[in-house]
Amino acid sequence: MFGKKMPGNIVTPPKPASGPPASGAAPALSQGPGSSVASPPKKSGSPSKGRASKEKIEQFNGLKMRLHRKLIDQLDLTRMVGDEDTLREKVKEVLSQLADQENTLLNFNERQRLISEVLDETFGLGPLEVTLSDPSVTDILVNGPKQVYVESNGKLRLTEIEFRDNAHLMRVIDKIVSAVGRRCDETCPLVDARLEDGSRVNAVIPPLAIDGASMSIRRFGADPLTWEDYIAFKSVTPEIRDFLAAAVNGHMNVLVVGGTGSGKTTLLNNLSGFIPETERIVTIEDAAELQLRQPHVVRLETRPANIEGKGRISIRDLLINSLRMRPDRIVVGECRGPETLDMLQAMNTGHDGSLTTIHANSTRDAVARVETMVMMAGFELPLRAIRQQFASAINVIVQAQRLTGGARKIVAVTEVTGMEGDVITMQDIFEFEQTGVNGDGRAVGQFVSTGIRPSFLERLKSCGCDLNPDIFTRRVLMADDGS
Ligand SMILES: Nc1ncnc2c1ncn2[C@@H]1O[C@H](COP(=O)(O)OP(=O)(O)OP(=O)(O)O)[C@@H](O)[C@H]1O
Ligand SMILES: [Mg+2]
Repeated sequence: MFGKKMPGNIVTPPKPASGPPASGAAPALSQGPGSSVASPPKKSGSPSKGRASKEKIEQFNGLKMRLHRKLIDQLDLTRMVGDEDTLREKVKEVLSQLADQENTLLNFNERQRLISEVLDETFGLGPLEVTLSDPSVTDILVNGPKQVYVESNGKLRLTEIEFRDNAHLMRVIDKIVSAVGRRCDETCPLVDARLEDGSRVNAVIPPLAIDGASMSIRRFGADPLTWEDYIAFKSVTPEIRDFLAAAVNGHMNVLVVGGTGSGKTTLLNNLSGFIPETERIVTIEDAAELQLRQPHVVRLETRPANIEGKGRISIRDLLINSLRMRPDRIVVGECRGPETLDMLQAMNTGHDGSLTTIHANSTRDAVARVETMVMMAGFELPLRAIRQQFASAINVIVQAQRLTGGARKIVAVTEVTGMEGDVITMQDIFEFEQTGVNGDGRAVGQFVSTGIRPSFLERLKSCGCDLNPDIFTRRVLMADDGS
């Protein structure tokens, strides 16, 4: 799925090292290799067996460090020319020769593993490379050097991946963040970054992270989910997809809501895919995650403050600036602060067809969240005025949810119809009704059309987005038994 290049591959030739770096030392890139993913299981039958396997791991790690150091002594990687694949091949050849010179008894598989792990340290992100090349992994959560969880197919599990120590983990973090021009040290202990393939990375280092550096990687992979995948996974039905396509195409302002990891960004990316290629799109994000396929896209990313606390460029700054960039559409990765009011205003003042996401647990909760964000930002607007802005800006709210068992679905598509007195009125057009869970603990239910026809159908028609009225007939669109 990812082709030859691994997503985490940031080729930074290692600097010569004379010995294993001291724990907590300033991070130097690609030095000593860490322990392996394929370490034998920690639990073993008897204490002597446990000791033996521990010794074997230590021997293997020692060998890896020796090999890595010899490689650095022998090759000046900074002077080697060629593309990454050629470099990798050359280094692999040298490593094979070095491995042969080592006087240790390794079987064929161990020898291969040794070489591939040293290569991962040299060119990639060390112990994380194995999970990074697994397309089913959606999250990698590193809680200090000795505990790494991954989420795949909606399930979270502890892996056997370990870093040698905190300094080793810090070097990997440094490699990731420095590749996007950021840094992570005592003055900047919280950082957002991304991998080459667009995966989002957040790192928090000690002393803020008490048990060693913590890193959370949100994977999207080189091939992010498409509408075909959504339908195959029963995340949506073709009718709901067609409705959303018409709404985006027909310049409705769409708000995606959902909890953490519910699939908001993935959905935003796919909704953005319905924007016609003829339009100019400006995307604004904290760490660029969106992967739009249209040709006319300007991607903007925020910047954290520098070491003196200056130079921060926020989502709001970029949003205000984007209004002067003649955008047809503005796509904001997530509104979570003062930019929320600016986004509503932009949607109300000629940039219709814009899209964003908000962290909220239901379509109705989205209104309360917006009110809170606007008030907390210090705008002294009466509640009614905020609601009016919301009601006239947002046409459709789409809710993403991670259901019991891990499946992610579009669970509500709601039209914002206006205001009655002080209350925003909404009507659900499509819903996923969960009826229970199956034997595997996965959610069971059905997508339904509520029988309500959205009020903007005529508007869509005038934009050439003709929808089959049948999709709004009250009925079950698709049943899902969770299998
Ligand atoms: N419909 C889906 N089916 C299966 N996996 C999905 C689906 N939607 C998203 N995912 C996967 O779930 C993970 C979380 O998705 P995403 O980052 O879009 O969520 P989010 O709500 O934006 O998270 P956050 O709140 O952390 O920003 C990603 O790895 C993504 O590939
Ligand atoms: Mg997101």
